[in-house]
Amino acid sequence: MTITAEPLTFALKPLSPVLGAAITGLDLREPLPETVKRAVYDAFVRYHVLCFRDQHLSEAQQIAFTEQFGTLERHIARNRTGANPLVNIVSNLGPDGKPSGKLSSTRWHTDKSFRALPSLATILHALVMPPQGGETCFANMIAAYEALPTADKTALDGVRVVHSWEISCARAGKRAPPEEIADAPPMAHPLVRTIPETGEKALFMGEHAAYLEGQPEEAGRARLDQLAAHAVQERFIYRHPWRAGDLLMWDNRCLLHCANTNFDAARFPRVLQRTCVRGLAPA
Ligand SMILES: [Fe+2]
Repeated sequence: MTITAEPLTFALKPLSPVLGAAITGLDLREPLPETVKRAVYDAFVRYHVLCFRDQHLSEAQQIAFTEQFGTLERHIARNRTGANPLVNIVSNLGPDGKPSGKLSSTRWHTDKSFRALPSLATILHALVMPPQGGETCFANMIAAYEALPTADKTALDGVRVVHSWEISCARAGKRAPPEEIADAPPMAHPLVRTIPETGEKALFMGEHAAYLEGQPEEAGRARLDQLAAHAVQERFIYRHPWRAGDLLMWDNRCLLHCANTNFDAARFPRVLQRTCVRGLAPA
């Protein structure tokens, strides 16, 4: 499909039946004219993941691109930034610059859901990728919610989830430093949120979702696990095979995502440059 948004024209092609579209014909190093920015945002709301092909952005250029869509938010872990604290470097390299075998973000999550204002969008730009594998995987939480039986939808109405950075770190076998725990206290959000532009409803949970507010912790945890198993069925998933020059922009309000561990992370580098746009309080 060709989209004309004077003064520019770009092409958009769906990436899968469930979510995602690839965009060609734009150079993101240049500011987007207002009409183009609006067309891009409309596509973002409709397809949830946009893949801009053939981009080569420095940290400063990625910040400038990101700022066109809102306020940037830094990563909670202070030791993972690029030259600019607003850029987070996603990397499996160790202090010696070689692949460490350790891969982060391998569990399904939505970025910064432990914040009062979780991320609207994440922008991830491939710098170095393994020859095969290491995809970023996405699950469509609007489709997952839609597929629930009506009784379940009714039961989830008004339910709130407590998201916790401390608990999600502990579950991953890591201890969050005290300053990070103080920076991100437990935060409750609705389990089902509404996308303001479309009125669609989406499950909002993932790795940082710890328990259900006002319910026994174990029962709430079990319910969240059940919902997570439902939500990441193959029919709701798209795995993005990265090409050199890809820059992804995705909607954290209605997706879970994770990195695919299907490559030798002790042998091949996987390095990406990430920025996040702060969103609104989920409702
Ligand atoms: Fe993430």
